[in-house]
Amino acid sequence: MQENIIPHQFSISQKERSELKGHNSFLLWFTGLSGSGKSTIANAVEKALVSEGIHTYTLDGDNVRKGLNNNLGFSHEDRTENIRRIAEVANLMVDSGLVVLAAFVSPYRVDRENIKTIVGAAHYVEIFVNTPLEECERRDVKGLYAKARAGEISNFTGINAPYEAPDDPDVEIDTTQVTVEEAVTKIMNHIKIKLAK
Ligand code: ADX
Repeated sequence: MQENIIPHQFSISQKERSELKGHNSFLLWFTGLSGSGKSTIANAVEKALVSEGIHTYTLDGDNVRKGLNNNLGFSHEDRTENIRRIAEVANLMVDSGLVVLAAFVSPYRVDRENIKTIVGAAHYVEIFVNTPLEECERRDVKGLYAKARAGEISNFTGINAPYEAPDDPDVEIDTTQVTVEEAVTKIMNHIKIKLAK
């Protein structure tokens, strides 16, 4: 079937779309345990970017797992497909000229490598929100760790499903050591050069 899909050559390129926006486009991928602070930090980084006139969009569980990926659960296979689809959507958004922020547990190293392949290494910034499990569990914002400990949720990352930590993330943040503002500064400093046209 794929052999009969012949791409149309559109006149407007990513370069032209980026020029119109006045900045480069890429993907900021936040990985870490549930409750580690990924969405909180992504939200604060997006605010900082928008205040500088950068065009952004955030992908997270709320707008993806309830829509595009509402047929996927938390088996290894479903998580891999979850991340693959998000990476493909992010790739289109990067092509459209946006700085895309994506906050997903994404526990498997090979799935994160696949994101890099889909969007291209030059467009991928990996941010490891490395808050210790004990702290995520202590916060238990959504009450899910308690349920997982009680055996009410299977395949819960960190409790009865694995989290494979990144070996060499671009930015690493432990929210027990830095404030949200400090995390934003660290990320903004890292991407400053990348943003410039
Ligand atoms: S991922 O593993 O496929 O990347 P994703 O980031 O989309 O996961 O969703 C994780 C969120 O779903 C968690 O923050 C938590 O709120 C919720 N959740 C529900 N069940 C699970 C589970 N079994 N493991 C991890 N998170 C779960």
